[in-house]
Amino acid sequence: MSESTPRLEPTTHVTASFVHEERLLFEQSKPGCRGIEFPPLGVPAVDARSLLGKMFRAQLAELPEVSEPQVVRHFVRLSQWNYSIEIGPYPLGSCTMKYNPKVNEVLANLPGFARQHPFMPEQWTQGSLKLMKELEKQLCAISGLAACTLQPAAGAHGEFTGLMVMRKWQESRGQGHRNKVLVPDSAHGTNPASAALAGCESIELKSNAQGLLDADEVRRAMGGDCVGLMVTNPNTLGLFEAQIAEVCAIVHERGGLVYMDGANMNAIQGKVLPGAMGIDAMHFNLHKTYSTPHGGGGPGAGPICVRADLAPFLPVPHIVEHDDGTYSLDYDQPQSVGKMKGFFGNFLILVRAYAYLRAIGAEGIARNAELAVLNANYIMAKLRGVYSPVHDVPCMHEAVFCDKSFKDNVKTLDVCKRLMDYGYHPPTMYFPLNVSGSIMIEPTENEPKEALDEFIEAMLAIHAEAKSEPKTLTSSPHRTFRKRVDETTANRKPVLRWRREVL
Ligand SMILES: Cc1ncc(COP(=O)(O)O)c(C=O)c1O
Repeated sequence: MSESTPRLEPTTHVTASFVHEERLLFEQSKPGCRGIEFPPLGVPAVDARSLLGKMFRAQLAELPEVSEPQVVRHFVRLSQWNYSIEIGPYPLGSCTMKYNPKVNEVLANLPGFARQHPFMPEQWTQGSLKLMKELEKQLCAISGLAACTLQPAAGAHGEFTGLMVMRKWQESRGQGHRNKVLVPDSAHGTNPASAALAGCESIELKSNAQGLLDADEVRRAMGGDCVGLMVTNPNTLGLFEAQIAEVCAIVHERGGLVYMDGANMNAIQGKVLPGAMGIDAMHFNLHKTYSTPHGGGGPGAGPICVRADLAPFLPVPHIVEHDDGTYSLDYDQPQSVGKMKGFFGNFLILVRAYAYLRAIGAEGIARNAELAVLNANYIMAKLRGVYSPVHDVPCMHEAVFCDKSFKDNVKTLDVCKRLMDYGYHPPTMYFPLNVSGSIMIEPTENEPKEALDEFIEAMLAIHAEAKSEPKTLTSSPHRTFRKRVDETTANRKPVLRWRREVL
């Protein structure tokens, strides 16, 4: 490793240097070892066996027998082998991994929200219904659309719900035969997958030389068998679809609808109203944009907003606000696509989003968009000239580079692995597929200039290493707990939990 390497000492991985025996760290159970001591019984003992009858366990559960400090240290150690937004920037393009205010965790954990039972009757859940209705209104205001459902549990689930709603609307107008969806090649990968799930065939639209959706391409492809268009805006090249209004008009003229993947709204919120651009339905990724971390397979929320005449097709129940200030759930919506998720959806994610939006207000929303775009362009400006931007124009939420400037020496994968040695989570790579060795960097609105400067310095140092000592990159990471894994095996045969036999 070069002398210059450890400028940014990654504290995450410190433990790894003195912990070699992984087996010993997981196998700590010792018969009789206890984490807690119960005080002597102050009441007569009950014979659980006679109470529980056949339900009484014949054998004790095989649980680890460990002390409290062992348990605490075990989990803290595991957290140190991992990376998190609490440790440093997480420049994962398209995935918007940003720091979320902890106060919203506190609010989501208030017992009135967190302990609410999904079967509680409406008269006991008025506060929650009000919160959800208010959130719906906030999202309608941001999208410029008329109605909202909070049910979908993720962005992709929102896309699926939106397409189902659009298809039902078309069915109601005798257009149920429409089963094709136009999807630009710069769309997020979930878009064609959601179209397939909604029973549609995707027709890929090629981006033009500027990486944008071309109105002529839409004019050529939009036929009478098309449900419409699914467009990610800003797209996965980090670019705003400049011809969107013209494109929407073409789709509408031909009886179609336009669905917008609004997962990248943090770049345009408060600045642009999708409804005014001609968008008919769109989703938000609350778990990217509004105070819940994205990824990790955790719960999310992908509410969709739609224009007024699509509202009757939204999932049931609809939340109804009455004149006397009370709320109820309305299941009597005969045109609805039905239920897309149990109960209130992922309710605590909704609480976080509501609290976040209330705290920052309309000005904060627009300011976030400005900062997200400014930060991405700062990175673009500082790395341009060394790394090659895919499109050398001002970007929106993310700066996307290709491998042109280093591919003779190393691969994109090597650059990204090496970033881990500098203490960073690697950016998203190799997407979109139509870019050679892409690196998508999304700093988000939350990173201060100092953090961006350090990241840029690391990227520049790695680029220099790619030329001077490529082997350091191709064998990286060197400082993480796990070193380079065999990517193919890791993909084909993932080992997702610790097992003695695989050590
Ligand atoms: C642009 C875009 N669309 C859709 C999705 C899918 O969202 P989810 O992962 O919640 O299904 C993502 C996820 O990051 C995204 O970035």
